[in-house]
Amino acid sequence: MQLLDNGVKSSIPAFTADSSSLTNATPKNITVIGGSGRMGQLFVQQLSAAGHNVSILGSKGWDDADTLLSQADLVLVSVPIERTIDIIKLAAKYLSPTTALADITSIKTQPLQAMLEYHQGPVIGLHPMFGPKVKSFSEQKFVVCPGRNEETFQWLLNWIKTLGGNIIVCTPEEHDRLMVFVQATQHFSRFSLGAFVTEEQVDLNRSLLLSTPNYQQEIDIVKGLFAQNPQLCVEIMLATEERCQAIAHLASTYNRLAQLVEQKDRSGLIQEFEKAKRFISNF
Ligand SMILES: NC(=O)c1ccc[n+]([C@@H]2O[C@H](COP(=O)([O-])OP(=O)(O)OC[C@H]3O[C@@H](n4cnc5c(N)ncnc54)[C@H](OP(=O)(O)O)[C@@H]3O)[C@@H](O)[C@H]2O)c1
Repeated sequence: MQLLDNGVKSSIPAFTADSSSLTNATPKNITVIGGSGRMGQLFVQQLSAAGHNVSILGSKGWDDADTLLSQADLVLVSVPIERTIDIIKLAAKYLSPTTALADITSIKTQPLQAMLEYHQGPVIGLHPMFGPKVKSFSEQKFVVCPGRNEETFQWLLNWIKTLGGNIIVCTPEEHDRLMVFVQATQHFSRFSLGAFVTEEQVDLNRSLLLSTPNYQQEIDIVKGLFAQNPQLCVEIMLATEERCQAIAHLASTYNRLAQLVEQKDRSGLIQEFEKAKRFISNF
């Protein structure tokens, strides 16, 4: 039993920083599938800056797949969520059994299962908990879901650690369960707030002039969401059936509470508040 970075006990292996392997790290041949995309570019740039030989396989590059994939030490899959499984299946046909295969998809169970099913060699699932605009990996979180022969990826995880990144190890199931709240329902509530202020035609500049720090912070976050590509926001909400169901559940919670407000049911609202307070104060 290992104690993970996030304090959760698990029987899955913890990765350790091994400084000797940092200094002796030899350049690797790496192919990033989707390396011209937003996250792909970030990884291509960071891995190249570390001295590795990095190639990109984009949507029109499959004629060169044999050259780009069969010689690679590491293949990193960074493609839209809905295409990930098909691309893993296709890429696996070209991989040597010793190639390390990883993905950075925002969901982990299905991509990891697909990598394990279609590739015989080392496999790991990663989820960078940040967007493509970060300047470096310093203080950024990387969720790591071990798949097979994790020791093959020790150099990669050590490299992330030396750049100041934090590794959090968990199972893909735990990752996906928690991402429903960390990402999907969170996106939905901010998306809803943005849609609401639009419907209400709120003068945001004026409201910010009169705002509390909390309101300012909330509006900044909502503005950040709407500065993104709409595909990404929608993809995050629709990525799994569990996410869609949790969003529907959140909407029914809003409705139930709104009904209490409409009925001016003070004691009902206070009961709801106390119940949530008892739960939330445990953390
Ligand atoms: N963006 C984020 O904030 C973020 C954060 C954490 C994790 N992620 C994950 O990172 C992954 C990529 O996201 P992104 O935002 O970087 O997406 P993106 O900007 O849309 O890039 C996706 C890339 O996939 C490539 N692609 C599509 N179909 C392909 C195919 N058949 N073969 C090879 N390449 C193909 C595209 O290549 P072409 O340009 O050649 O068409 C494109 O460059 C997703 O799984 C997402 O869940 C994203």
